[in-house]
Amino acid sequence: MNDEQFTGQFEQALEALQTGLERWESFEPDPTTAVGDERITSVLAELTERLQIDYPYGHPRYAGQMLKPPHPIAIIAYATTMFVNPNNHALDGGAATSQMEKEVVPQLAQMFGYSDSHLGHLTSSGTIANLEALWIARCINPDKAIAVSDQAHYTHARAGELLRTEIRPIPSDSNGRINVDALSEMLSAGDVGTVVATAGTTGLGAVDPIHDIRRLTAEAGVRLHVDAAYGGFFSLLARSQEPTIDPAPFLAIAEADSVVVDPHKHGLQPYGCGAVLFRDAAVGQYYVHDSPYTYFTSDELHLGEISLECSRAGASAAALWATLKCLPLEADSGLGLIVRRTREAGLRWAKLLRDHPRFRLTVEPDLDIVSFYVLPGDGAPTASAISALTRRIFDGTEHDPEEPVYLATLRIDQAQIESSHPEIVWDQPTVEVLRCVVMKPEHADWIPTIQAAIERHID
Ligand SMILES: Cc1ncc(COP(=O)(O)O)c(C=O)c1O
Repeated sequence: MNDEQFTGQFEQALEALQTGLERWESFEPDPTTAVGDERITSVLAELTERLQIDYPYGHPRYAGQMLKPPHPIAIIAYATTMFVNPNNHALDGGAATSQMEKEVVPQLAQMFGYSDSHLGHLTSSGTIANLEALWIARCINPDKAIAVSDQAHYTHARAGELLRTEIRPIPSDSNGRINVDALSEMLSAGDVGTVVATAGTTGLGAVDPIHDIRRLTAEAGVRLHVDAAYGGFFSLLARSQEPTIDPAPFLAIAEADSVVVDPHKHGLQPYGCGAVLFRDAAVGQYYVHDSPYTYFTSDELHLGEISLECSRAGASAAALWATLKCLPLEADSGLGLIVRRTREAGLRWAKLLRDHPRFRLTVEPDLDIVSFYVLPGDGAPTASAISALTRRIFDGTEHDPEEPVYLATLRIDQAQIESSHPEIVWDQPTVEVLRCVVMKPEHADWIPTIQAAIERHID
C-alpha cells in the first residue's frame, strides 16, 4: 500500500463516517473545545520534530527490540475508528467493534487449535492478558503455587505479587527452555497448581517443550498456561506443509488450559492489543460481577462480562479485524507467510554466524530472535572481554556514519550457558551478548547487510 492509497482511503472512510452522522441534526462544537489554527500548527510541528528520533524502528536496519510498525490497514482502521471512539467494555459503548472482537477472537482461537467452546477476548497488553490467565488459575487452584521458567517474562513474577500467589522458578536448560526433568520433580510434591510455559521467550526467543510439559501437567492434574505473547503467530507455521520450526510445542497449545498472544507484536497491530484465550468457557463463572451502569442494552454477551479490564479500545478490535480481513491467519498465505519470512531471517543469520570463526550463537534460534557473541581478536575469551566487545559492537554499529545497524544486548548468567560454551573463561558471573529481533519480513533479505555492518566493528 503506497502513501497515496493510504491517504485516499483514509479520507474516503472519514467521509463515509461523516455521512453517517448527517442523519442527526447538526450542532456547533462547544467553544471550550476550540483551539486556534496557529496553536494546532505549532503543536503538530513540535510533535513531528520530537518524533524524529534516531531509531528507525520500521527499517530493516533496526533489529534491536520487538518493534515494528503496524500494517497500514491497521493504522487506517484504528484512526478511522477513533472518530467514533467506541469502548468494548459493553455493547452500550462499543456496538460495532464488540462484534468485530467477537469475530477475531475465534480466529485467534482456531490458530491455536482451540475448539468453539473456548472463551477469550482482546486485552490492552500481554501483561494484562497473562495477569488475567494467572488470576483465573488462582481462582481454580487458590492455595497452590504457579511454576514459571526462570527465563519467563518478568510479568509473571509481578502478577504473582499482585495475586499474592507464590511464583516458583523452574530451572531452564542451556537452550533457555524449561528443564522437563526439573519440572517433573517439582510437580511430584503436589503443591503446584499451574505451570506457565513460554512459546518464544523474550530474551533468547526459546520455545519451551510444551508437548512434554503438557504430558507432565496432565499426569499431575495441574493447569497449563502458555505465554505465547511473542511467538503465538508461529503456530501458523506449525500447521503449514513445510514447517520451518519444530511444530510439536505449538501443536500442543491446543491442549493448554489458557494461552496469551500479542497481536501488537507479530500481528502487525498498534500497541494496545493483546489477547487471552481459555480452552474451557466454564471459566466465565469467575468473571461474574454486577455492573448496574452497563450491560442493559441487550442480553447478548457484553465483553466486559468476561474481562478483567473495564474500558478497552474498540479501535484495537477494528484494527485487528481489518488486518485479518486483508492478511488472514493462514499457514501458507496472509500472516503465515510473514512469520515464514521472519523465521527465514533467523535461520539465514544463524548460518552466517555459525560459518564465521569469531562469532558464536548463544543458542540455536527457535524463532526469529538471534543471540550471539564475538570472540575477542586477541587475549583470552573471558566473560568480561566478550561483554566489553558486545558493548563496543552495540555502540559502534549504531553510530557507524555509513552503515548503521541497531541491535540490542542481553545479560546471561554463567550457570545458563557454561556447559554449552566451555570456551568462555568466567572471570565474572554474567556475560553480555548481542540479542537481535528480526521480526520484519524484510529482514530476510537484509541479513547479509546487517552481518557485514557488524563485522566492520569486531576489531
Ligand atoms: C513472552 C512475553 N510475555 C509477556 C510480555 C509482556 O507483554 P506486553 O509488553 O504486551 O505487556 C512480553 C513482552 O515482551 C513477552 O515477550
